[in-house]
Amino acid sequence: MNKILLFTIVFILGFFILIESEWLGSKNVDGGLFPNMDYKPSISQGESSYQSACIKCHGDNLLGSEQGPSLLDEIYKPSHHADLSFYYAVKSGVRQHHWKFGDMPKIDGLSPERVSDIISYVRHKQFFLRTLLTS
Ligand code: HEC
Repeated sequence: MNKILLFTIVFILGFFILIESEWLGSKNVDGGLFPNMDYKPSISQGESSYQSACIKCHGDNLLGSEQGPSLLDEIYKPSHHADLSFYYAVKSGVRQHHWKFGDMPKIDGLSPERVSDIISYVRHKQFFLRTLLTS
Protein backbone atom coordinates (compact mmCIF):
# COMPACT_ATOMS: atom_id res chain seq x y z
CA MET A 1 0.00 0.00 0.00
CA ASN A 2 2.71 2.43 1.04
CA LYS A 3 4.77 1.50 -2.01
CA ILE A 4 1.89 2.33 -4.31
CA LEU A 5 1.44 5.69 -2.59
CA LEU A 6 5.16 6.44 -2.86
CA PHE A 7 5.21 5.42 -6.51
CA THR A 8 2.22 7.66 -7.25
CA ILE A 9 3.85 10.65 -5.53
CA VAL A 10 7.16 10.15 -7.35
CA PHE A 11 5.31 9.73 -10.64
CA ILE A 12 3.27 12.91 -10.20
CA LEU A 13 6.30 14.92 -9.06
CA GLY A 14 8.35 13.64 -11.98
CA PHE A 15 5.57 14.54 -14.35
CA PHE A 16 5.46 18.15 -13.14
CA ILE A 17 9.23 18.52 -13.21
CA LEU A 18 9.23 17.26 -16.80
CA ILE A 19 6.46 19.63 -17.88
CA GLU A 20 8.12 22.56 -16.11
CA SER A 21 11.52 22.00 -17.68
CA GLU A 22 10.04 21.47 -21.15
CA TRP A 23 8.12 24.67 -20.77
CA LEU A 24 10.88 26.85 -19.34
CA GLY A 25 13.44 25.55 -21.78
CA SER A 26 11.21 25.70 -24.80
CA LYS A 27 12.51 27.63 -27.74
CA ASN A 28 10.14 29.68 -29.79
CA VAL A 29 9.15 27.46 -32.67
CA ASP A 30 8.54 29.08 -36.03
CA GLY A 31 4.94 30.16 -36.33
CA GLY A 32 4.55 30.61 -32.55
CA LEU A 33 2.49 33.59 -31.50
CA PHE A 34 4.36 34.78 -28.40
CA PRO A 35 7.99 35.35 -27.46
CA ASN A 36 9.62 33.27 -24.73
CA MET A 37 8.48 34.23 -21.26
CA ASP A 38 11.86 35.69 -20.33
CA TYR A 39 12.00 38.01 -23.36
CA LYS A 40 12.42 41.68 -22.38
CA PRO A 41 10.88 43.89 -25.08
CA SER A 42 12.70 47.00 -26.28
CA ILE A 43 10.78 50.24 -26.78
CA SER A 44 13.33 51.67 -29.21
CA GLN A 45 13.41 48.48 -31.29
CA GLY A 46 9.60 48.60 -31.17
CA GLU A 47 9.63 52.14 -32.53
CA SER A 48 11.75 51.19 -35.49
CA SER A 49 9.70 48.04 -36.23
CA TYR A 50 6.54 50.15 -35.95
CA GLN A 51 8.00 52.61 -38.43
CA SER A 52 8.74 49.95 -40.98
CA ALA A 53 5.60 47.82 -40.58
CA CYS A 54 2.71 49.83 -39.13
CA ILE A 55 3.28 53.55 -39.69
CA LYS A 56 1.81 53.44 -43.19
CA CYS A 57 -1.67 52.95 -41.70
CA HIS A 58 -1.47 53.76 -38.01
CA GLY A 59 0.45 56.95 -38.71
CA ASP A 60 3.32 58.99 -37.39
CA ASN A 61 3.39 58.85 -33.57
CA LEU A 62 0.45 56.39 -33.64
CA LEU A 63 -1.84 59.23 -34.71
CA GLY A 64 -3.57 57.37 -37.52
CA SER A 65 -3.72 57.99 -41.26
CA GLU A 66 -6.19 57.76 -44.11
CA GLN A 67 -5.66 54.00 -44.09
CA GLY A 68 -5.97 53.17 -40.42
CA PRO A 69 -6.99 54.34 -36.93
CA SER A 70 -4.81 55.98 -34.30
CA LEU A 71 -3.59 53.42 -31.78
CA LEU A 72 -3.81 56.20 -29.19
CA ASP A 73 -7.59 56.07 -29.39
CA GLU A 74 -9.35 55.19 -26.12
CA ILE A 75 -10.51 51.87 -27.52
CA TYR A 76 -6.91 50.59 -27.83
CA LYS A 77 -6.05 51.09 -24.16
CA PRO A 78 -4.87 47.87 -22.49
CA SER A 79 -8.16 47.19 -20.70
CA HIS A 80 -10.03 47.20 -24.00
CA HIS A 81 -7.46 45.78 -26.40
CA ALA A 82 -5.12 43.53 -24.48
CA ASP A 83 -1.66 42.64 -25.82
CA LEU A 84 -3.17 39.47 -27.23
CA SER A 85 -5.10 41.49 -29.81
CA PHE A 86 -1.80 42.88 -31.18
CA TYR A 87 -0.30 39.42 -31.65
CA TYR A 88 -3.47 38.28 -33.40
CA ALA A 89 -3.76 41.43 -35.51
CA VAL A 90 -0.22 40.97 -36.88
CA LYS A 91 -0.52 37.22 -37.34
CA SER A 92 -3.97 37.04 -38.92
CA GLY A 93 -5.04 40.57 -39.82
CA VAL A 94 -8.18 42.31 -38.57
CA ARG A 95 -11.63 42.42 -40.11
CA GLN A 96 -13.05 45.93 -40.24
CA HIS A 97 -15.25 46.32 -37.17
CA HIS A 98 -14.53 49.55 -35.27
CA TRP A 99 -13.89 51.91 -38.16
CA LYS A 100 -14.43 52.40 -41.89
CA PHE A 101 -10.82 52.00 -43.05
CA GLY A 102 -11.34 48.49 -44.36
CA ASP A 103 -9.59 45.34 -43.13
CA MET A 104 -6.07 45.25 -41.75
CA PRO A 105 -4.00 42.70 -43.70
CA LYS A 106 -1.82 40.25 -41.79
CA ILE A 107 1.71 41.58 -41.49
CA ASP A 108 4.46 39.18 -42.58
CA GLY A 109 8.07 39.15 -41.48
CA LEU A 110 7.67 40.06 -37.81
CA SER A 111 8.78 37.57 -35.17
CA PRO A 112 6.83 37.43 -31.88
CA GLU A 113 9.77 39.29 -30.27
CA ARG A 114 9.39 42.19 -32.71
CA VAL A 115 5.63 42.30 -32.06
CA SER A 116 6.35 42.35 -28.33
CA ASP A 117 8.72 45.32 -28.92
CA ILE A 118 6.01 47.12 -30.90
CA ILE A 119 3.48 46.54 -28.11
CA SER A 120 5.88 48.01 -25.56
CA TYR A 121 6.37 51.06 -27.79
CA VAL A 122 2.59 51.48 -28.22
CA ARG A 123 1.92 51.05 -24.48
CA HIS A 124 4.70 53.55 -23.73
CA LYS A 125 3.10 56.16 -25.99
CA GLN A 126 -0.39 55.43 -24.65
CA PHE A 127 0.84 55.78 -21.08
CA PHE A 128 2.60 59.04 -21.91
CA LEU A 129 -0.59 60.46 -23.45
CA ARG A 130 -2.70 59.36 -20.49
CA THR A 131 -0.40 60.96 -17.93
CA LEU A 132 -0.32 64.11 -20.03
CA LEU A 133 -4.13 64.28 -20.16
CA THR A 134 -4.67 63.52 -16.50
CA SER A 135 -1.98 65.77 -15.05
C1 HEC B 1 -2.62 48.40 -44.45
C2 HEC B 1 -2.96 49.11 -43.25
C3 HEC B 1 -2.51 48.59 -41.91
C4 HEC B 1 -1.24 48.22 -41.52
C5 HEC B 1 0.04 48.18 -42.34
C6 HEC B 1 -1.35 47.88 -40.12
N1 HEC B 1 -2.63 48.03 -39.69
FE1 HEC B 1 -3.35 47.62 -37.83
N2 HEC B 1 -5.23 48.10 -38.41
C7 HEC B 1 -5.57 48.61 -39.65
C8 HEC B 1 -6.98 48.93 -39.66
C9 HEC B 1 -7.74 49.54 -40.83
C10 HEC B 1 -7.49 48.57 -38.37
C11 HEC B 1 -8.92 48.78 -37.84
C12 HEC B 1 -9.87 47.64 -38.15
C13 HEC B 1 -11.21 47.95 -37.55
O1 HEC B 1 -11.37 47.74 -36.34
O2 HEC B 1 -12.10 48.46 -38.27
C14 HEC B 1 -6.36 48.05 -37.62
C15 HEC B 1 -6.45 47.58 -36.33
C16 HEC B 1 -5.37 47.21 -35.56
C17 HEC B 1 -5.46 46.72 -34.21
C18 HEC B 1 -6.73 46.50 -33.40
C19 HEC B 1 -7.10 45.03 -33.49
C20 HEC B 1 -8.45 44.68 -32.96
O3 HEC B 1 -8.57 43.56 -32.39
O4 HEC B 1 -9.40 45.48 -33.08
C21 HEC B 1 -4.19 46.51 -33.78
C22 HEC B 1 -3.77 46.01 -32.40
C23 HEC B 1 -3.32 46.83 -34.89
N3 HEC B 1 -4.06 47.24 -35.96
C24 HEC B 1 -1.94 46.74 -34.83
C25 HEC B 1 -1.10 46.89 -35.94
C26 HEC B 1 0.33 46.71 -35.88
C27 HEC B 1 1.12 46.36 -34.62
C28 HEC B 1 0.80 46.91 -37.15
C29 HEC B 1 2.22 46.79 -37.63
C30 HEC B 1 2.92 45.58 -37.31
C31 HEC B 1 -0.35 47.22 -37.99
N4 HEC B 1 -1.48 47.23 -37.21
C32 HEC B 1 -0.27 47.48 -39.35
C33 HEC B 1 -4.72 48.80 -40.72
C34 HEC B 1 -3.38 48.49 -40.74
